[in-house]
Amino acid sequence: MVVYHPSSFFQGKKILLGVTGGIAAVKVVSLARYLTEKGARVTTCMTRHALRIVGRTSFEAVTGERVYIDSFAEGASLAHITLARSHDLILIAPATANIIGKMAHGIADDLLSTLLLVEPQKVLLAPAMNVSMWRNPVVQENVKILVERGVRIIPPSSGKLACGEEGEGRLPEVEELVEAAFQALHTPRDLAGKKILVTAGATREWVDPSRFISNPSSGLMGCALASVCRAWGGEVKLITGNLSVRVPFGVVQEVAETALAMREAVFRSFGWCDVLIMCAAVSDFRPASFSPSKIKRGESAFTLSLVPNPDILKEIGEKKGTKIVVGFCAETENVLEEAWRKLRAKNVDMMVANLVGQEETGFTAPTNKVWIVDRKGNEVVLPLLPKVDVAERIVSHLVSHFLS
Ligand SMILES: Cc1cc2nc3c(=O)[nH]c(=O)nc-3n(C[C@H](O)[C@H](O)[C@H](O)COP(=O)(O)O)c2cc1C
Repeated sequence: MVVYHPSSFFQGKKILLGVTGGIAAVKVVSLARYLTEKGARVTTCMTRHALRIVGRTSFEAVTGERVYIDSFAEGASLAHITLARSHDLILIAPATANIIGKMAHGIADDLLSTLLLVEPQKVLLAPAMNVSMWRNPVVQENVKILVERGVRIIPPSSGKLACGEEGEGRLPEVEELVEAAFQALHTPRDLAGKKILVTAGATREWVDPSRFISNPSSGLMGCALASVCRAWGGEVKLITGNLSVRVPFGVVQEVAETALAMREAVFRSFGWCDVLIMCAAVSDFRPASFSPSKIKRGESAFTLSLVPNPDILKEIGEKKGTKIVVGFCAETENVLEEAWRKLRAKNVDMMVANLVGQEETGFTAPTNKVWIVDRKGNEVVLPLLPKVDVAERIVSHLVSHFLS
């Protein structure tokens, strides 16, 4: 399971997990376990109705921390204040229509709803309910009130609901909740107000309806960059070729399967963005022609004629103006020399060179070894790291050298 956050991000983070009486409360035990395993200190606060769905022991067992329920059972500790003040994030998952309504209108009739009034800026809500409840104008109005007050919401996903109906209202998957927590907790946030366009994955150049030319890029590096840019506060659009990984939480995706489609999509969105990160593995060649019917097996040799695809990065470099452009190149040898040559030849601000063709780096590996060079003359060699950690270092370099 790929979860897009740097490997040690949750180490030492204090997360208050608020669990309310939705059927998805059972799913949240895995969330508590994941965050605890990654080094977060997770304290759970449950409503009385949540206790009817999942036992407190489950949360105590996976977090190793006590579970809070009732303000008046917590002695003279003023738990509603100390709990809110002592955590970095208050994540309510699942958030019932009831807790959303109570928070929107300042109702504080139990421990969880009371502590939400103490530190509302720390709250991240993950609503989950039946589709008709979710679409009910009163629920939507309450969500709108909270959003206008700056409360962050993880939109429910669509699909089969626990009640058997279909539609919007599902609690997103655990990995998406984790990414939402990463993106909410991350500091600094220097990309706030910036629009970031990222490309990821492998293009496919079709020969006939059943064959294509492509490369082994999984899209993991580009998706990692998209999640990290979001965590730094940016608005992120991801243009993807073929991906063998999931798109991260909070990112808008546009699919562009071929190099020509990707060129068109990048040029269409380039005016919108402040920063372009071209991480997709775009095929250098495509078949000279496409056969609409499957090419039959034969006894004699078959020659496929290829024509060059446009060099999207080079074309962008020619007209980039003041926008920041980051390119990626995949090399099997002379990595640094090639990175410097391509940085200049393509007129980009930063070039990130990957070593490919080895087991632990490049296309399909979960880890990567990269070199960063930039037009200000900086040269950085990163150690072998998980790809999301590499993404964090790249974005940090981008911000400190080009956006500060
Ligand atoms: C089995 C069961 C499942 C429920 N699932 C949901 C749900 O997914 N979302 C929701 O908003 N309410 C759900 N409810 C209704 C809430 O439990 C009810 O509104 C309750 O008052 C919520 O209290 P709380 O927000 O204090 O936990 C469910 C009720 C039952 C009995």
